[in-house]
Amino acid sequence: MKKTILITGGAGFIGSHVVRRFVTRYPDYLIVNADNLTYAGNLANLSDLENAENYRFEKIDIVNKDDVNGLFNRFDFFGVIHLAAESHVDRSITSPDEFIHTNINGTVNLLNACRNGWQSYESKLFYQISTDEVYGSLGENGLFTEDTPYDPKSPYSASKASADHLVRAYHNTYSLPVVISNCSNNYGPNQFPEKLIPLAINNIKNNKPVPVYGKGENIRDWLYVGDHASAIDRVFHKGKPGCTYNIGGNNEWKNIDLLKLLCGIMDDRLNREKGESEKLLTFVKDRAGHDLRYAIDNSRISKQLEWTPAHNFHDGLEKTVEWYLSNQQWMNEVISGDYGKYYEQQYLRR
Ligand code: NAD
Ligand code: DAU
Repeated sequence: MKKTILITGGAGFIGSHVVRRFVTRYPDYLIVNADNLTYAGNLANLSDLENAENYRFEKIDIVNKDDVNGLFNRFDFFGVIHLAAESHVDRSITSPDEFIHTNINGTVNLLNACRNGWQSYESKLFYQISTDEVYGSLGENGLFTEDTPYDPKSPYSASKASADHLVRAYHNTYSLPVVISNCSNNYGPNQFPEKLIPLAINNIKNNKPVPVYGKGENIRDWLYVGDHASAIDRVFHKGKPGCTYNIGGNNEWKNIDLLKLLCGIMDDRLNREKGESEKLLTFVKDRAGHDLRYAIDNSRISKQLEWTPAHNFHDGLEKTVEWYLSNQQWMNEVISGDYGKYYEQQYLRR
């Protein structure tokens, strides 16, 4: 019998890259993707894997205990990679409740299912995918290490920090084998166009203004999503239970500089005059409580687990632009909401 891994949130941006990596690299595993297909979940991201023999999709709401317990009754998971979450900071500012339900209660439901469902903890692992935002905001200097105290500033980051604390509490109290990784900003194919990079690509392409929050001076550390998936693979297989790993790209960019770089790539790709796309950059009111700077010290994962990112930023960004421009139908369906029909066609009308 194949060893079975549960990946939650596998229809989302990062989750779909993680599912793809595990399904294609590990034919001896059965990968169960549990996702309730919120606005951010899009099964079209994985349509080519639909019939893979070692892949299953389960429509599961992690906030619903019956859903979660039922799943654990049907499968004997040896590992859980937990990505399902509400992930967008701006949405957490306008409506925080969903973030509390999904990110905190959903995580606890999964922890309880592991605690109650696993007869022995031998060779088992609960892997919490978290964010660097739990550490709060850096000033001009310094990096987040695994020892940086938690100081979350937005409802999103506070909900992720709460979940991380609960994961550690289950390890400390019940000896549940857990690992946590805290990653910086991801970019790449399949990202919902509410996030900076796909939003900007889409707006530039359609000659629409690109909103730059505040003065565009906030700094993020960008990592190609495929590199995050390779880091997750490494942590899942080689990480030490009870340990935390920071994951980042050593790749800090002020938002305004990143957008100018992106505009240059778009000018080239769309045969526009140099500087034309930049005219679309439009300064708008800042995000409430906007964290100034995130930057990761990834020396633990690079030294202990020998992981380094494979993509440099310019190449990763060009590859990303190419993907969005060549997948206009994906973008159109996401923007119109039609991507929801995929689940209906594939699973409900069979
Ligand atoms: P995403 O918003 O693209 O996808 C989230 C997925 O979770 C979607 O498929 C959605 O349908 C699913 N989901 C939401 N609520 C659910 C529920 N109640 N039950 C089951 N499924 C549910 O998110 P993402 O950007 O891919 O992020 C994935 C994870 O990685 C999150 O935990 C996030 O905090 C973390 N993370 C993201 C980044 C980033 O830059 N995007 C960086 C570091 C960490
Ligand atoms: O650091 C990891 C985090 O990165 C993840 O945990 C989150 O799930 C993910 O959404 C991301 O959070 P950010 O808030 O950093 O990402 P976002 O793409 O929303 O914004 C990136 C930066 O760009 C941020 O400083 C806000 C700014 N911004 C964003 C948007 C959407 C703009 O200036 N204009 C925009 O339209």
